[in-house]
Amino acid sequence: MDYSGFFTDEAVRLEILRKRAYNMRWAEQPEDVLPMTAADPDFPACPEVVRAIKDYADAGYFSYTPPLGLPEFREAIASGLRRRKNEDVDPSLVLPIDSAARAMHVTAAMLLQPGDEMIVWDPVDFLFRASCLAAGGTPVLFPTKLGADGKIDLSDLESYVTPKTKLIGLCNPHNPVGALYSRETLETLLDIADRHGIWIMSDEIWSDIVYPGEEFMSLFDPRVRGNKERVIGIYGFSKTFGVAGLRIGCVYAASKAAFDKAVEASGVLSTAGGISSLSQIAGTACMNEGFDYFDAFLKHLTRNRDYACERLNAMKGISCRKPQATYLVFPDISSTGLASVEFADLMREKAKLAIVPGSERFFGPGAEGHVRICIATSSGLLKEGLDRFEYGLSLI
Ligand SMILES: Cc1ncc(COP(=O)(O)O)c(C=O)c1O
Repeated sequence: MDYSGFFTDEAVRLEILRKRAYNMRWAEQPEDVLPMTAADPDFPACPEVVRAIKDYADAGYFSYTPPLGLPEFREAIASGLRRRKNEDVDPSLVLPIDSAARAMHVTAAMLLQPGDEMIVWDPVDFLFRASCLAAGGTPVLFPTKLGADGKIDLSDLESYVTPKTKLIGLCNPHNPVGALYSRETLETLLDIADRHGIWIMSDEIWSDIVYPGEEFMSLFDPRVRGNKERVIGIYGFSKTFGVAGLRIGCVYAASKAAFDKAVEASGVLSTAGGISSLSQIAGTACMNEGFDYFDAFLKHLTRNRDYACERLNAMKGISCRKPQATYLVFPDISSTGLASVEFADLMREKAKLAIVPGSERFFGPGAEGHVRICIATSSGLLKEGLDRFEYGLSLI
């Protein structure tokens, strides 16, 4: 199917989003506020996914599924990761689970004992810190830095390792900075982890949203050399396919021993944890039939990214690096003299635009001086949002 006309202004159904889109988005904002907050697209999911859910529901049975997930879903995940991103993943070592957030919590719970340290980038998505704390661990903040190639620089990572370090949280690609990692950097990371016996939580939820001319490299890519026995991969479906409410994600491992530990920590064997049948059916359709939709979405996002960065960089006192990946832009607003929370409050109250402040709560103290804007919307709404941003700025 041709999706080139799918990502238009008319495709965005505001009347439905206002009822259904939570997490700081339409359903939680006053009618006159435009949300560019949580990373969740304004477009409907692809028709193949909707059809797969309808077909399954029409048959009328919603019985228990296998504890380790539907075999066809596990196969679809492994084959999608291989086809799209050259990841060497064995379907028998893939555990479907209810969201990437849950996958992060399971991974931290399986690897951390109270008092253990986890290295967490600063800034990075709050879920790294939250999963560490939930497991009783201590997050050790590692400042996120970019090298000359615009990719994340890990050259001084090893100085953050202590005898208590048990886990490193890798956000690849990085939210909110939108940066990738080079093969050499990933090999350095594997080397450090291997020499110190540290595990790596490799969250690849953003790995499809990579702009033309850039290359995503996974730790599971055979071209990345090193010992991967202690790497746990995480993937989620919310960002690529716009199905956040279905809570679809997975954990994958490089060894049976690591996989078994994840299964144990997940609670799926006792049915206390797990992912719904409908979500697995939707996830299978995403992986097997959803990438034509996604490729058209990425073309649209590329235009949005270029437009957003051009507009923001033309505004007085604002500078915005072009993300290599993700549909997030993270402009530097520090020259306004406002703290990021004050800036976001002003935007919401005076300009009727909701954005995410670069605060400790969402990303860590290193995010201060920035705000995060989600650009997964139509070009009309993006223009409106940036007009409001520019107006808000003129009031400072
Ligand atoms: C880096 C990162 N990991 C995990 C998640 C959570 O995804 P999910 O909706 O699958 O829980 C997000 C969502 O924003 C994210 O940005």
